[in-house]
Amino acid sequence: MIFITGGTGLVGAHLIYDLLLVDKKIKVLRRKNSNTKKVLQTFCYYTSEEKALELYDRIQWVEGDILDIECLNEHISPGDTVYHCAAIISFDPKDRERMIDDNVQGTANVVNICLEKKVKTLCHVSSSAAIGRDHASDEVTEEHAWQYHSKISAYSISKHESEREVWRGIAEGLNAVIVNPSIILGPGDWTSGSSKIFLSIYEGLKFYTNGITGYVDVRDVVKAMQKLVEAEINSERFILNAENVAFKDLFADIAIGLKVKAPHILAKKWMSEIVWRVEAFKSLITGSKPIITRETAFTANKQYQFSSNKLLTSIEFSYRSVSSSVSDFCKLFLKDMSKNMH
Ligand SMILES: NC(=O)c1ccc[n+]([C@@H]2O[C@H](COP(=O)([O-])OP(=O)(O)OC[C@H]3O[C@@H](n4cnc5c(N)ncnc54)[C@H](OP(=O)(O)O)[C@@H]3O)[C@@H](O)[C@H]2O)c1
Repeated sequence: MIFITGGTGLVGAHLIYDLLLVDKKIKVLRRKNSNTKKVLQTFCYYTSEEKALELYDRIQWVEGDILDIECLNEHISPGDTVYHCAAIISFDPKDRERMIDDNVQGTANVVNICLEKKVKTLCHVSSSAAIGRDHASDEVTEEHAWQYHSKISAYSISKHESEREVWRGIAEGLNAVIVNPSIILGPGDWTSGSSKIFLSIYEGLKFYTNGITGYVDVRDVVKAMQKLVEAEINSERFILNAENVAFKDLFADIAIGLKVKAPHILAKKWMSEIVWRVEAFKSLITGSKPIITRETAFTANKQYQFSSNKLLTSIEFSYRSVSSSVSDFCKLFLKDMSKNMH
């Protein structure tokens, strides 16, 4: 049996789809208020409504939470393959404590039950954010040492400390493989997470920054996860990254796909510094979510180059180009927008 956490998210829903297509038996953890229809909606991006429903009906849902160790104990069994995709992703300072606590404790719970139940393997979804970037001018590899510093995001800390729980499990005898995706491009909930980039540009985002970072297609993320599990590779972490692209170029590509004007005003570093302070003040007064925070302003101006080498030399794999992913997802975005208008 395969057990999946975070199945209602971008990565989880794509993973479920792939696994069902090859007839795997899967149990998926959902929270009481999880919107499971998002999973069906994801299937519909890639197949007919009829086939999507047929696949969706084969999911064995179990209600619970990664913070509930009893529930994990009840549903994870000896010999299972566990894909741990659940995590909170937020750059809002208000979510700081809860995100670190939940992501780290939730992962510790998953690791402890996987150890106790002697699962076959655990595939943990970490992040490029969990990797140290001590020499920003170098290409970032799996070997880069982690360093805490004052501007590091709470999300990065939560993912780094979560991953440490998995390494602790490995030291205690767990078979586990870790993936560290860069920014994941994919369709789904266009109003949140990394998919929101499409909506922001569609709605007329005017600014771009001088930053560069890595991107990877969600379909490649879940393909790599399955391939690593099938290859029985353990005790290793792998950066998943198709290409490193400047924000300006990515935004221009998305704008072409969405047939809108590209962000054309360079937001200089000092401008982002002002904007995040204004946003923090606005958020304090109104309780609204800040559009840009101190942490996002910091990373928006950084130029990171992530290496794709380790995965490509360890298994047979090739990535879709970022421009082909953008083109595919822009089409799906426009389809969703036209459905919403009717
Ligand atoms: N998106 C990216 O660009 C990116 C890049 C690198 C790494 N990652 C990592 O990839 C993984 C999946 O990300 P995603 O983009 O798919 O995120 P997502 O769309 O926000 O989905 C997050 C999932 O986690 C679940 N979850 C959160 N807290 C939970 C808890 N306490 N108990 C059980 N389930 C919980 C959510 O359930 P509900 O539906 O109930 O909210 C949802 O299914 C995460 O570990 C993330 O850190 C993401």
